[in-house]
Amino acid sequence: MKQITLLMLALVVLLAACNASIPPSGEPTASAATSSGMGSGMGMGMGQQNGMMARHSAPIPKAYAGLVNSVTADEASLERGAELFTTHCASCHGDGGMGDGPAGVSLNPAPAPVAHTSQMMGDDYLFWRISEGGAMAPFNSTMPAWEGALDEQARWDVINYIRALGSGAVQPRQGMGGAALDPTAQATRQAEMLATAVAQGVLTPVEADVFAEVHTAVEALRVQGMENMSGDMNSMQVEMLAELVQAGTITQEQADTFGDVHTRLLDAGLME
Ligand code: HEC
Repeated sequence: MKQITLLMLALVVLLAACNASIPPSGEPTASAATSSGMGSGMGMGMGQQNGMMARHSAPIPKAYAGLVNSVTADEASLERGAELFTTHCASCHGDGGMGDGPAGVSLNPAPAPVAHTSQMMGDDYLFWRISEGGAMAPFNSTMPAWEGALDEQARWDVINYIRALGSGAVQPRQGMGGAALDPTAQATRQAEMLATAVAQGVLTPVEADVFAEVHTAVEALRVQGMENMSGDMNSMQVEMLAELVQAGTITQEQADTFGDVHTRLLDAGLME
């Protein structure tokens, strides 16, 4: 089980891989040093890098931990979710759930790119956050609490919908504004981040390739297999990597390299 512990450690960082903390220009950001005072968001914005790790590693309260979505993500649920999201969430989170709605522009912390983060976080985390909002540490945000306004089914419907937005199973509705999840832009950001890491001597080109390959496999699995996953991101990611090794998609060695590379990218400040 030692192996697993190592993976868990490394996987805290996996999350950040999807949001490499490096702007499109290719310059690493000093994200650790700028934990407040972030100004306007730039779409797939600055705010979400800032404090994202703190958010996503916050302990899930007992009342929520382990909760599993009880509503099947069928057409009816997605339709209800779309309605709810458009009415209640898109103003801040954007039509595509990328955190770039018009009402979110001046918020600090900025609205999260929920289409994206819903691919990484478990049912319990999402249900907790939507139920109770952000008026508490470590969030301290204007994210409203919805438990009074939306019944449980509605909260699961909206979770089904943001997951579907993030996986590309549904297209954003127009209305509030904001971009759709853009896998190409994300891939470009990641490639730039890796190129920077290689240029700085943090990684060898071979390690960068392994990282990119494993990351792609994890993403593919995530899109297929989000049903009924709960727990924090560590356990979800550990499961995914183990599953990929077991399926022969990646080798144990690649999984280990992946973890190691993550740690070094983190240490180098290239990822949050
Ligand atoms: C007034 C603006 C606003 C509205 C409206 C709003 N949110 Fe948020 N939301 C935020 C902000 C700001 C954050 C980031 C800070 C935080 O996590 O508390 C956030 C965070 C979240 C998170 C946590 C994501 C993560 O990565 O940790 C989820 C899930 C979420 N919102 C879902 C929703 C849903 C679903 C709705 C509609 C039912 C909604 N939000 C409506 C502002 C808003």
